[in-house]
Amino acid sequence: MSHIITILPGDGIGPEIINEAEKVLACLQSEHGLAVTLEHAPVGGAGYEDSGKPLPDATLALAQAADAVLLGSVGGPQWEHLDRALRPEQGLLGLRAGMQLFANLRPAILYPQLADASTLKPDVVSGLDLMIVRELTGGIYFGQPRGIRTRDDGQLEGYNTLVYSEGEIDRIGRSAFDIARNRGRRLCSVDKANVLECTELWRQVMTQLGTEYPDVELTHMYVDNAAMQLVRAPRQFDVMVTTNLFGDILSDAAAMLTGSIGMLPSASLDSSGKGMYEPIHGSAPDIAGQGVANPLATILSVAMMLRYSLDEPALADRIEQAVGTVLDRGLRTPDIAAAGTDPVGTREMGDAVVAALRNN
Ligand code: IPM
Ligand code: MG
Repeated sequence: MSHIITILPGDGIGPEIINEAEKVLACLQSEHGLAVTLEHAPVGGAGYEDSGKPLPDATLALAQAADAVLLGSVGGPQWEHLDRALRPEQGLLGLRAGMQLFANLRPAILYPQLADASTLKPDVVSGLDLMIVRELTGGIYFGQPRGIRTRDDGQLEGYNTLVYSEGEIDRIGRSAFDIARNRGRRLCSVDKANVLECTELWRQVMTQLGTEYPDVELTHMYVDNAAMQLVRAPRQFDVMVTTNLFGDILSDAAAMLTGSIGMLPSASLDSSGKGMYEPIHGSAPDIAGQGVANPLATILSVAMMLRYSLDEPALADRIEQAVGTVLDRGLRTPDIAAAGTDPVGTREMGDAVVAALRNN
């Protein structure tokens, strides 16, 4: 049976890096028996240009019907002046909500070949391998009421709502505990329970869940401390689970620990394991179209897709090994190249991964 994958190249460097990921998929099809059918659709700024909406109805319908979605990136300065509802980011938020992708997995792995790329000292980050599990369809990102209104005294005020139901906390908690169970069996739940009632409930539900997972060591940390600990001693963490907004912030910090945001994939999953896969970096409009973007995060997102949604873990391993091979060979796009070395372009990097896939 052929898996249906919806490909959403998006904006900026999205189309270039997706192109390389598609070469990898084509190689797995022709040489390793993967059966996939690819469909393409516009999203983000490209969606707006196509049909006046960052998430065209036809794009959402394709994404909902697919077994998995592979997304490049969305956004660019040319769409920043639009009304909020028409901006490219809404395409992403609409996909998350419309596909009920509540579990966002953001690994931060330091590749030994790239140990020098981090701004932190090698002895602090070497061997780093942590997973942030971010709640993705609730919390302050989606809470109602929200808006900007005029108060009685004539001043404008902006307001948003941080809200989580027990059920929402429970399901993201289970995802995180299950992941921890298959890794280092340590889970750190990050909240602000000392100030925010919503996350006091978060802590209660996580603690309760912990009794069902006696084999996983559960700890709790306030988000401010977690931010500090991430840059002080990041290897203390195995899996972290947190709210939508805290996860947004902490995952950027965690990504930068590795020094190579161009290397990191992500998965956003629903309750049945269907998911959307994307590099965690953005659309990088400053380098779009130049053929210098690093395609490895997108290629590694394909590996996550094979593992989490398509039940092809052996092929996922192959991709990850191929990426290791090209790094061992010394190939570097500009974002991960050491000063004074000769970087390769987007296509060369993609071709090298495909060659490694053929030979491994
Ligand atoms: C992310 C991004 C998005 C978010 C933006 C683009 C809406 O920062 O995926 O982390 O805030 O979730
Ligand atoms: Mg973010």
